Amino acid sequence: MKITVIGAGYVGLTTTVGFAELGNEVTSVDRLPLKIEKLSKGISPIFETGLSEMLQKHIKQNKIHFTDNIEKGIAFSEVIFLCVGTPQGDTGKADLCQIEEASKDIAKHMKSYKLIIEKSTVPVNTHQWVKRVIKRYAKENIEFDIASNPEFLKEGSAVYDFMNPDRIVVGVESDRAREIFKRLYNPFVEKGIPLIITTPSAAELIKHASNSFLAIKISYINMVSELCEKVGANIDMVAEGMGYDKRIGRAFLQAGIGYGGSCFPKDVKAFIKIAEEQGIDFKLLEEVEKINLSRRVKFLKKIKEALWIIKDKNIALWGLAFKPDTDDIREAPSIDIVRELEKAKANLRLYDPQAMENFKDIFPDSKHTRYFNDKYEALKGAEALIIITEWDEFIEADLDKIKDNMKLPIIIDGRNIYPPQVMKEKGFEYYSIGREKINNGDIWK
Ligand code: UGA
Repeated sequence: MKITVIGAGYVGLTTTVGFAELGNEVTSVDRLPLKIEKLSKGISPIFETGLSEMLQKHIKQNKIHFTDNIEKGIAFSEVIFLCVGTPQGDTGKADLCQIEEASKDIAKHMKSYKLIIEKSTVPVNTHQWVKRVIKRYAKENIEFDIASNPEFLKEGSAVYDFMNPDRIVVGVESDRAREIFKRLYNPFVEKGIPLIITTPSAAELIKHASNSFLAIKISYINMVSELCEKVGANIDMVAEGMGYDKRIGRAFLQAGIGYGGSCFPKDVKAFIKIAEEQGIDFKLLEEVEKINLSRRVKFLKKIKEALWIIKDKNIALWGLAFKPDTDDIREAPSIDIVRELEKAKANLRLYDPQAMENFKDIFPDSKHTRYFNDKYEALKGAEALIIITEWDEFIEADLDKIKDNMKLPIIIDGRNIYPPQVMKEKGFEYYSIGREKINNGDIWK
C-alpha cells in the first residue's frame, strides 16, 4: 500500500520505517527542509535502536521518500498518518496547533478520498475537531474518514515495538476505513496479534488511559519502596512476589527515582485536564504526579544523608538520559539532581553513553560540571558515584574497577542496579531505593 506520514519526529520516523518494513511504500513529510535533506541521505535526527539501518535500507530500495512539500505528500496516497507533535501547553493541556495545521493542509490539498489517521497522542474527541477543520477548509466536497490509531512505542525500542506490538488499536467511523486498516495491519493479524477495532473516542482514550495506568504502577511501587525502607524489606522481592500474580504483572514495578521522558509526565497531566474539563476530579493521577516528583527530592535527601556536606565534593554521576537506550533528557530526573548538586557547589563528573550532548545544552561543560567520554574516567578521584539511569553498561560494569578509580567507594543508586549483598562484600558503602532500612535519616547497612 501507499502511505503518507506527516511529521518526521520519533513517532513519524518509526511509523515510516515500520510500514516500509512491512512492504509498503511510504512518503514522509516534514516542514523542516534541513531535516528532510538529512533524512533523504539516511541520516536520522534521533537515536533509536535499528532506525538508521532500516532507514538506509528502505531508501535504497526506494520504499521510503522524504519531502517538505506537503501538497506532494498528500497527493501520494489515500492513507495519511498524523504524527506531528502535541506538546504540553501552559496549563498542562495538549497543544494541538500542529494537528490543526496539518488538518488544514490536508483540506487544502486533497483531491480524492483520504483516510486521515491520528497517531500522535491527542485528547479524547480530537478526531471531531480534525473532521470539523477539514470540512471547514476543504475547497471541494471530497469524501474522507478520520480514524485514531494510537502508538504504544517505547523510546529506545520503538522500531522493535512497532514490529512486535502487544495489540493494535484502531478507532473508525466507516466500513471503508475499517477495511483499509484490516489490509494495512494484516501481516500482524496473521501472526495472531489482536487488532482491536473500536470508535475513535475509545481509541483516543485507550492511549491516555494506558500511559496513565503505567505511571500509577510506577508511583505505587515507589511508595511501597518507601515503606520497605522503614520496615527493612527489599522492594525488589516485594515486586517479584506481586508480579507473579497475572492480574498484576511484573512490568513497570521497578522502584527507582521515578518516571520521566516526553510521554508519561505530559500524558498524565493531559489526562487530568481532560477529566477536569468533563467535571471529573482525577485526584488519583494528581497524587501519582506528586509522588513521582517527590522521588527526586527524596533521592537528593539520600545523597545528602550519605555525604553530609556536598560543597566541593567530587561526585561522579552515571546516566543522564531519562531511561536507557535513548539520548532523550526531556523531564529526566537527572536535570533536577544535577541542578541541585550544582547549587550545593559540588564538583560534578558526568557520564552518559548517549545523552551528554543534549545535557550540555542545559548544563554546559564548566570547571565544576565536567563531562567524560569514559565512565571509569568520570570516577577518578570521586568521593561518591550517583547512578540515575540503568544503562546495561553500568549494570555490567567491573565493580573492582569502579572501586579502584574512586577516592571513596560510596555509591548512591537511584535504579537498584546492583545486589546490595555483593556490594557489601566488595566493600562499597552502597545506598539504593527500598532495599535498606532507614531510621530517622540514618541509613543502616
Ligand atoms: C511510554 C510507554 O511505555 C509507551 O507504551 C508509549 O507509547 C510511550 O510512552 C508514548 O506515549 O509515546 P517511554 O516514555 O518511551 O514509553 O518509556 P517507558 O519505557 O515507558 O519509561 C517511562 C519512564 O518510566 C522512564 O523514565 C522509566 O525510567 C520509568 N519507569 C519505567 C520506572 O521508573 N519504573 C518502571 O518499572 C518502568
